[in-house]
Amino acid sequence: EKGGFKHFMLKEIDEIPESIESALVGRFDDDYNPVMHELDEFNIEKIKRILLVACGTSYHAGLVFKYFAEKYLNVDVLIDVASEFRYRPIRIDDETLTIAISQSGETADTLESIRAVKKAGGKVVAISNVVGSTITRESDVTLYMNAGPEIGVAASKTYVNQLILLYTLALYMIKKRNLWTEEHKKIAKQIVSSANLIKKIISNKEIERVSDHYKNYQHFMYIGRGVNTATALEGALKLKEISYINAVGYPAGELKHGPIALLDPTFPVFAIAPKDSLYEKMRSNIEETRARNARILTIATEGDTEIQKISHDVLYVPEVHEDLYPLVIAPVIQLFAYYIADKRGYDPDKPRNLAKSVTVE
Ligand code: F6R
Repeated sequence: EKGGFKHFMLKEIDEIPESIESALVGRFDDDYNPVMHELDEFNIEKIKRILLVACGTSYHAGLVFKYFAEKYLNVDVLIDVASEFRYRPIRIDDETLTIAISQSGETADTLESIRAVKKAGGKVVAISNVVGSTITRESDVTLYMNAGPEIGVAASKTYVNQLILLYTLALYMIKKRNLWTEEHKKIAKQIVSSANLIKKIISNKEIERVSDHYKNYQHFMYIGRGVNTATALEGALKLKEISYINAVGYPAGELKHGPIALLDPTFPVFAIAPKDSLYEKMRSNIEETRARNARILTIATEGDTEIQKISHDVLYVPEVHEDLYPLVIAPVIQLFAYYIADKRGYDPDKPRNLAKSVTVE
């Protein structure tokens, strides 16, 4: 059932384009306006605060939403991992909406967070991949990822579908609140055509080739800025959970507040540096890590040949709207982690100590 692939994880990454298409069914009209009938009964215009709760990879998808939604909507997005959220006081009013993200729909801490919000009188929108799962039954509405079953323990195609749904949800709110501009239409268009773009990205043989240079390290530092802080955190999580390399992820500006002390030739850096408004800042951070003689692998925008001068290896992704880089980079960090785990002789589908559904607290 692996359809000729060595592992489910590789098969599921390969399925990302069709999985995106499934997530997008009915989500944009012919003029690229977002459609989300599930939320028609919600008073989206009134919302001033969004509470976002999730664990692990789903939490990282939530972080992308926070950056994107706060940029265009006049809302505060407060995000927390569910195992912390549920033990903190919850303030709910008519202007608060809670979004809970869970691929499996069974994560114990996320479920308990939803129960706490409901008990406080709040409304919950769930984002899940599993029809009829506990979280979907206990939330007010569910946005389904429609990614199809994911067998590999590490989330891959479902992370991408979470991003698709969260971008669409934010665009829907932008539209509802009369904040829609041509720029949003451009973003919507790119989301609608992202499957094709990602098909090309996952066929990039450079990812496997480059991974060979990094398979024997014991440490790894992922850095990014802005919305790609989430990409850095997710890249590090993916690598550590399947390859057992001690990978850490940081917002690049935090380097000089401690973590840069770790860097030396045994501690490589994975820099997420697409051509966005924080690009120059990322370049300076890359220079800083270079001064520590760390090996540097950079993800950059096609055409950025300059970055090769300060990186040992570069993986390119096509140019997209700056807010959408997390979407196109996601499969690259997944494939990178996959190849390293496989080359190190581990089974990426079954990382030790981990379960697909975390139903214990
Ligand atoms: C990492 C991974 C986990 C899950 C987390 C939440 O690759 O898969 O971090 O994202 O356990 O799971 P769900 O989304 O099912 O609540």
